[in-house]
Amino acid sequence: METITIESLAGQIGKVATLRGWLQQKRGSKGLFFLVLRDGTGLVQCVVNQQNVEVNSWQNASAATQETSLVVTGKVHADERQIGGVEIQVSSIEVIQIVDDYPITPKAHGVEFLMDRRHLWLRSRRPWAVMRVRNRVIMSIHNFFQERGFLQMDAPLLTKNAVEGTSTLFEIDYFGSSAYLTQSGQLHGEVMAMAFNKIYTFGPVFRAEKSKTRRHLTEFWMIEPEMAFYDLEMNMTLAEDFLIRIASDAVSDCEEELEILERDLEALRRIQAPFPRMTYSEAVELLQSEKTRILVQERQDALQRQQSGLEKERTQNRDVYARSKEWKKRRIDAREIAINTHLDQIEEELRNLPKWWESAVNFEWGKDFGGSDETLLTWHFDRPIIVHHYPEAVKAFYMKRDPEDDRLALGMDVLAPEGFGEIIGGGQRADDLTFLEEQVRRHDLPQEAFEWYFDLRRYGTVPHSGFGLGLERTVAWVCGLEHIRETIPFPRTLGRLAP
Ligand code: 4AD
Ligand code: MG
Repeated sequence: METITIESLAGQIGKVATLRGWLQQKRGSKGLFFLVLRDGTGLVQCVVNQQNVEVNSWQNASAATQETSLVVTGKVHADERQIGGVEIQVSSIEVIQIVDDYPITPKAHGVEFLMDRRHLWLRSRRPWAVMRVRNRVIMSIHNFFQERGFLQMDAPLLTKNAVEGTSTLFEIDYFGSSAYLTQSGQLHGEVMAMAFNKIYTFGPVFRAEKSKTRRHLTEFWMIEPEMAFYDLEMNMTLAEDFLIRIASDAVSDCEEELEILERDLEALRRIQAPFPRMTYSEAVELLQSEKTRILVQERQDALQRQQSGLEKERTQNRDVYARSKEWKKRRIDAREIAINTHLDQIEEELRNLPKWWESAVNFEWGKDFGGSDETLLTWHFDRPIIVHHYPEAVKAFYMKRDPEDDRLALGMDVLAPEGFGEIIGGGQRADDLTFLEEQVRRHDLPQEAFEWYFDLRRYGTVPHSGFGLGLERTVAWVCGLEHIRETIPFPRTLGRLAP
């Protein structure tokens, strides 16, 4: 049995094709059914004409409900008005399973409802687009590093070492002694860089994040390049080239997906070198500046304009509702839910803006930036920004110090534009044994668990650097998604461990 996928139909014009998939939508009129078939690679409209099919096929078309699994055979016609530019003139339909009461209907549902049914929601249009972008981003990441001679190597997930502080460790019982789920592959990445020069890890990491934010998961995927003989400057340039590659591949290869997500492609096309670079101190100054206050004001005005536009549209829709046809009513219902969701987001941001400005203008040098501080900083620029030379107190124990100012660490974060904030964290590593031993002590970490790590500084230590890119935050930025939970097939958060 030869099956053709929907995405390859454009090359099958004039031929008869057999498609296997699920029914996404059905409309009917006298002697005709229009079935929208989904097979995971795309959607196609299949036209069933009672006069052209056997009774059995006609009955199957009549009985098919949303998500019924089907085998459809028919001739492929070019039709520019249809999704994918083709349409199937059906000659036969077999049913694999008829579905009763599929829980996710074409009308809009709330996110929690959908997340509880994530195992089914993944079949819908929006997750389809997001997961395909995720896949494309993953491919770009591998291509980028492989083309530059980096070796992909895996760090262990079970470990004795805290990497990013002790407050977000998931502790497990390892045959009677304690171990952790890794927070980052970096320490093992450094080992591999000393053995293989330039490597990158690509794996899941775990953090017991006790706060509910739109940027935090408890299980997420991190890509961590680590390079021998790289200083902070080279590290920043690599991060810049890397993000440019991810954005430009997405723009050129995910046009359909990004359109479904209504992503502003111009914003992604602007991701070009050079990214603005500034020290932490310069970033603090910018954050507290009059310029930030003006941006907050402008944002407030823009949101209020959007708000009244949406409210007006909602009123107009309600006015015509009663005299609308059934299909139009359904469209208005869906639009109403979309408008309400959007209005809720706008209201929330309007409530937050004064608080964000307040905490920005009162920011104290030495603190770490909060999510809102990062958001405000990104509004000053149309591309990612790199902030470097942070106070050592807000960075991890392994950071090298600035030789000219001992209060500063040679760390850097890359903040994604349009308010997305930190997607990369990294820096130059401490390469001196005595200093590193001191830091482990100062951070109350168990010395013996780090002996193997100290060996890197005992036997041929060299300057080296690296960074970690959060895959889900990156996908959220590329797709323009409000919340990180939609960027991973099965999100794990404080309140969610299923499905
Ligand atoms: O800044 P972080 O904590 O850096 C490290 O773990 C370093 N060891 C990386 C390195 O230098 N090799 O995390 C790196 C990135 C962040 O910039 C963010 O994109 C992502 O990981 N991230 C999270 N993503 C989702 N949920 C969370 N709870 C995250 N915490 C960090
Ligand atoms: Mg960080």
